[in-house]
Amino acid sequence: MVGGLTAKYGDRTILDGIDLTVRAGEVRVILGGSGSGKSTLLKNIIGLVRPAEGVVELLGVDLRTADEPQREAVMGRIGVLFQGGALLNSLTVEDNVALPIREKLALPEPVVREMVAMKLALVDLSHAGHLFPPELSGGMKKRAALARAMALDPEILFCDEPSAGLDPVTSAALDALLLSLKKRFGMSLVVVTHELASIEAIADKVTMLGRGRLIADGSLAEVKASGHPAVRAFFNREPESGSARTQSVFEALQEKGAAAPVGDGRLGDRSGGDRSGGDRNRGDRDRSDRDRSDRDRSDRDRSDRDRSDRDQRGGDES
Ligand SMILES: Nc1ncnc2c1ncn2[C@@H]1O[C@H](COP(=O)(O)OP(=O)(O)O)[C@@H](O)[C@H]1O
Ligand SMILES: [Mg+2]
Repeated sequence: MVGGLTAKYGDRTILDGIDLTVRAGEVRVILGGSGSGKSTLLKNIIGLVRPAEGVVELLGVDLRTADEPQREAVMGRIGVLFQGGALLNSLTVEDNVALPIREKLALPEPVVREMVAMKLALVDLSHAGHLFPPELSGGMKKRAALARAMALDPEILFCDEPSAGLDPVTSAALDALLLSLKKRFGMSLVVVTHELASIEAIADKVTMLGRGRLIADGSLAEVKASGHPAVRAFFNREPESGSARTQSVFEALQEKGAAAPVGDGRLGDRSGGDRSGGDRNRGDRDRSDRDRSDRDRSDRDRSDRDRSDRDQRGGDES
């Protein structure tokens, strides 16, 4: 679905030559450290950000060449669970879920209500439709956002760190819910996460990003067997020497003019595992230093919708 994708903000390259294919019914997990470009990748795939280079094909539609009606149509066939949930605090849960339905389909109000009730039942929120997002626990907000993402019965559901800010039990429940929805509706899922427990629970295929490059791609077992230091460090929860993380802290300092230049941080980069899912030959990739900082996570998602619901983080649910 993505070929040779390069993404930039201004003249800063965030992603460089990413290939990624998601097959029908598969759960594809996208991994990578903070600031590695996971959200940027999602935003490019779903057309929120226009790729600097490369092909993005969503459900058979090439987003570069699609006209507005084609784009609209394909957007109606995907669902997105934004990082942070992005519910509108001024609307009830019901009206939040009704939003995409009202936007895309001209249906009589009782039918809209009926559809909303069904989606709320799917996520076990039938009792909470009249509440406003600030009145919900963290897990309930995620489920409400999920109901909204599911409103139009998407063929692919994209989730950006769905379990961020949830306690482990609520997070596990959300994974189970995602899997059950996937099974029930035969959707594909593309999930950005860095929770190891989630990855173990849901991943069919794994893509790992490191400094803007694809550093691993394959089944979970294949990726785990990768010799790439950043991949090993991730799965063993070890600090990686000379890692992106360490580097990025230096670079962040450098940006502020506080640090001396750091070494080139080359890591003998190799894509790990055999690339069974690869219909394109990815080849070993040379890693180059890139301009990269590790800004505070909360600064990162700038879309208005994400911003609308920043306060929801850290809630938990009993
Ligand atoms: N709208 C934007 N404008 C400029 N830079 C951005 C924007 N969004 C993200 N970035 C930068 O791009 C890099 C990748 O961000 P992001 O894709 O959000 O990473 P991740 O989701 O993996 O944590 C970060 O260094 C971030 O600061
Ligand atoms: Mg992100």
